[in-house]
Amino acid sequence: MKDIYILGIESSCDDTSAAVLRNGVLLSNVTASQAVHEAYGGVVPELASRAHQQNIVPVVDQALKRAGIEKEQLSAVAFTRGPGLMGSLLVGVSFAKGFARALGVPMIDVNHLQGHVLAHFIRESDDNHDQPHFPFLCLLVSGGNSQIVKVNAYNDMEILGQTIDDAAGEAIDKCSKVMGLGYPGGPIIDKLARQGNAEAYQFAKPQIKGYDYSFSGLKTSFLYSLRDWMKDDPDFVEHHKEDLAASLEKTIVDILMKKLKMAVKDTGIKEVAVAGGVSANNGLRQAYRDYAKRYGWKIFIPKFSYTTDNAAMIAITGYFKYLDGDFCSIDAPAFARMENK
Ligand code: KG4
Repeated sequence: MKDIYILGIESSCDDTSAAVLRNGVLLSNVTASQAVHEAYGGVVPELASRAHQQNIVPVVDQALKRAGIEKEQLSAVAFTRGPGLMGSLLVGVSFAKGFARALGVPMIDVNHLQGHVLAHFIRESDDNHDQPHFPFLCLLVSGGNSQIVKVNAYNDMEILGQTIDDAAGEAIDKCSKVMGLGYPGGPIIDKLARQGNAEAYQFAKPQIKGYDYSFSGLKTSFLYSLRDWMKDDPDFVEHHKEDLAASLEKTIVDILMKKLKMAVKDTGIKEVAVAGGVSANNGLRQAYRDYAKRYGWKIFIPKFSYTTDNAAMIAITGYFKYLDGDFCSIDAPAFARMENK
């Protein structure tokens, strides 16, 4: 049988990434991250799309070179169609469509969130690694989303609950900004938290019904507490940053795990995965391991490189869609939000 080569392209936020798969096995995954946003404490959309324009050709070129293939060997081009920043998406979407059309191969549109969930199916070799069985639950936590997803099949996912305001990653990034730490805050808070006391401070936990989340109250509680403490000690953050980070991280992990535990209990599904940028967090990973031990969950935690935005997850989702013959037309537009799809 002829080999199937899929090129995946991801450009939904501030990472330009391209990956190549052969028959579902990853050959290359190249990502150019954008340092330009650090000075602003957050992603500046206009700067992001300009950086994508500069990066996209070299990144795709590198991905093909590292995979050891010529572009003419590609069977299809998969790309993130949304959700994400419109200007950023447009760069990847336009490039992917043009590239696929020039090569005369199908184009495959991929939902970024579906990609995060299917990152669990990325294989780096022909060996079968431990993959979740359908149906499984996936906690999808990133800078833009916090959801509990019931995954019935590659192409059938149900959102059981989601944030009604800020995402978990967004809350971490904003609290880190208030503390005067760098951007993105997630990895910095994670590092500091490892040296702090998670019981040192208490912050507000939301009381939301069902499986939905809310993180805006926590953010406000963190800000007001900090303001009060700084009245007595202007260098409070510097003196207590490890304990602050550990307490903040624990509060967020507790909120995430409480709802997830409820979903596991109600659905009876004990295969539980985690995905998205925040799944790189060591406190959350440890909580997963603890819950697995305590409640008999079978857990799936992705490799660090597949937690934050990457094209390997877009390519694997594209591969499954390719096998289904699920292609898109050249006029399929990018979408910034799920409801605009
Ligand atoms: O999935 P992702 O790369 O982009 C989105 O699609 O949003 O997630 C980025 C988010 C940021 O909020 C970042 O601070 C957070 O993931 N993050 C972390 C860690 N690494 C990245 N949060 C906590 N601990 C980490 N180690």
